[in-house]
Amino acid sequence: MSAITYELIKRCPETGARAGIIHTPHGSFETPIFMPVGTQATVKLLAPEELKEMGAGIILSNTYHLFLRPGSELIREAGGLHKFMNWDRAILTDSGGFQVFSLGALRKITEEGVAFRSHIDGSKKFLSPEIATKIQMNLGADIIMAFDECIPYPADHDYAEKSTARTLRWAKRCQETLTADNQSMFGIVQGGMYKDLRKSCVDELVDMDFPGYAIGGLSVGEPHQLMYEVLDYTAAALPANKPRYLMGVGTPDCLVESVKRGIDMFDCVFPTRVARNGTAMTWNGRFIIKNAEFEHDFHPIDENCGCYACRNYSRAYIRHLVRVNEVFGLRLLTIHNLYFLIDFMRKMRQSIIDGKFVDFYNEFAPKYVLK
Ligand code: GUN
Ligand code: ZN
Repeated sequence: MSAITYELIKRCPETGARAGIIHTPHGSFETPIFMPVGTQATVKLLAPEELKEMGAGIILSNTYHLFLRPGSELIREAGGLHKFMNWDRAILTDSGGFQVFSLGALRKITEEGVAFRSHIDGSKKFLSPEIATKIQMNLGADIIMAFDECIPYPADHDYAEKSTARTLRWAKRCQETLTADNQSMFGIVQGGMYKDLRKSCVDELVDMDFPGYAIGGLSVGEPHQLMYEVLDYTAAALPANKPRYLMGVGTPDCLVESVKRGIDMFDCVFPTRVARNGTAMTWNGRFIIKNAEFEHDFHPIDENCGCYACRNYSRAYIRHLVRVNEVFGLRLLTIHNLYFLIDFMRKMRQSIIDGKFVDFYNEFAPKYVLK
């Protein structure tokens, strides 16, 4: 019996969308869900209480960064990541695969693992399936990820095939390393943009019987239509009784399209990163708060938003704070953007439960224009 379980609550009869609940040793959360990103054991600018107030049930953190600083032994000594950062709800950690590979020229892949240089001080480091899994055991997240290679786009079939085969061998080694019975490891589907590779990767991972499956190697620069095409057949091939997590995706348009294809979990730095650039996300698209048009605008960011920022502050005030480089302005935007995305998923989930997901989809798409 795995430490997490997936409960399917309702399926959309017209699309692949589904509403569920995932039970973890640190509480349950409803799916589809957006997971705020806390790379450095903190969701940038926010206290855990603020994340709870906006309804976050799970956050994501990163093996790569915590391995480099402060080191996973220190976090184990603190009693694990939950205690270290004072977050008592669920945590998912990514395996480091993606971060190592985004370093490009600074790395060397072998069957054993990946040698790379730290982006901080250039020192030599090594990650392997065994090391990435042991680090994640020290961190103690409820859901941990297999160590994989995120294939760049574009990649030829021969490279994608060899890389995917290695990722599968690595997945087996990760699974054999994990001994903690309060942690659940997800396998990651790779295969580039190739249907045969994606399908055989799913089959092999399903044979290994992971408690959940992630789809990696998407949103790596390919056109959206191609990503949706890969998602169509990949998500459809995954077992219905396990959660499905699309890694690194989190703009509202991609979230709706992916939920439609049966994805349950998402993470993305987008809402928090653009908040720190002074961008607010809304149901009608996003806008830059510094723009002159908001100088005398004493309305909240979004009249219908229930977040702390919208309940208490005006666009004019937040614009002022951002213009004079006050951190509080960026904090308010972060609170709003995360609340918006969590609320967006909550409403999408409710539409699935009410049998109205197609209406939600049809109403959202034309309204959400990017300025
Ligand atoms: N984050 C976004 N894409 C990926 C991926 O392909 N692999 C991993 N491990 N993390 C990701
Ligand atoms: Zn708000």
